[in-house]
Amino acid sequence: MLIRNRRGWELPESAVTPESVVLGRRRGLGLLAGLGAAAALPAGPAQAQPAVAGTAMRNTRFRPEREVTAERDVTTYNNYYEFGSDKSISRAAQKLQMNPWSIRFEGMVEQPREIGLEDLLKQVQLEERVLRHRCVEAWSMTAPWTGFPMSELVRLAAPKSEAKYVVFETVQQPANMPGLRQIWYSWPYIEGCTVAEARNELAFVATGLFGKPLPPQNGGPIRILFPWKYGFKSGKSVVRVTFTDQRPVSFWQKLQDTEYGFWANVNPAVAHPRWSQATERLLGSNERVPTRMYNGYEEFVAGLYTDLQNERLYM
Ligand code: MTE
Repeated sequence: MLIRNRRGWELPESAVTPESVVLGRRRGLGLLAGLGAAAALPAGPAQAQPAVAGTAMRNTRFRPEREVTAERDVTTYNNYYEFGSDKSISRAAQKLQMNPWSIRFEGMVEQPREIGLEDLLKQVQLEERVLRHRCVEAWSMTAPWTGFPMSELVRLAAPKSEAKYVVFETVQQPANMPGLRQIWYSWPYIEGCTVAEARNELAFVATGLFGKPLPPQNGGPIRILFPWKYGFKSGKSVVRVTFTDQRPVSFWQKLQDTEYGFWANVNPAVAHPRWSQATERLLGSNERVPTRMYNGYEEFVAGLYTDLQNERLYM
């Protein structure tokens, strides 16, 4: 238990352990996540910044059961095709303009509207979760993310009852994103889920990573995370959230439906055409470990799929 208030980025990495409990922190992290990269933060005494109400707690419900991956590996080995199709886009991604940032709620919602990130963050309670993240390319990492439950985003968007699906769209900044010139891809990057999945307690919206504002290469200033699904479902730098009664066809699915389905839940027994999913490489090491059903989160999410056994749930 922490006894003094800290800002998000003050969280020592040593605090990132499964045993950690509640960390009382100001909500400043989230607000700063909307203002730009950590480098833009004043170098002086962070405590001198105006206090922001609220606290960010370490949520220990979702146990990492793995060593936390080195921050350097998490932030320099990335998939973000808008910046390029290899893993070394972290430098190029620094061009992303993250301030100001807003998100549009559209489609089957009570009132379509645009909300500024700062405004949005004033209306949610930030927390920190150490989550496993599994790419379909069979590498994985474990990292501490700051953010809020996706159910809160759904609440703020106020979807109509006939909405069945949520579509998340990534920003397009052609001047800053060379990958957008690769016209064989169908930009923008969109991903989707059911409203029920978005309301599941494990679905998360991240605005911070390792106690700092979420860096652009990892999807700053705001991204989604579905820890029980393959990583491509977790769209980055979200600017539009649309509610619909039509199942969306997402970015990778449009390109190759046989390789990337709508559900894409992690299942070690169902191989991707090009990669076995039985094991995974832990980022930053050569160690391979067995992959777990729903990436080890079965107890939280399996119930979502009991009535959907005729669907292609795992690829
Ligand atoms: N979101 C956008 N907009 N563009 C992308 O190329 N790649 C996806 C996903 N979200 C991607 C994206 C894939 S394939 C993975 S594995 C994760 O982001 C990687 O997230 P990370 O770089 O934070 O590990």
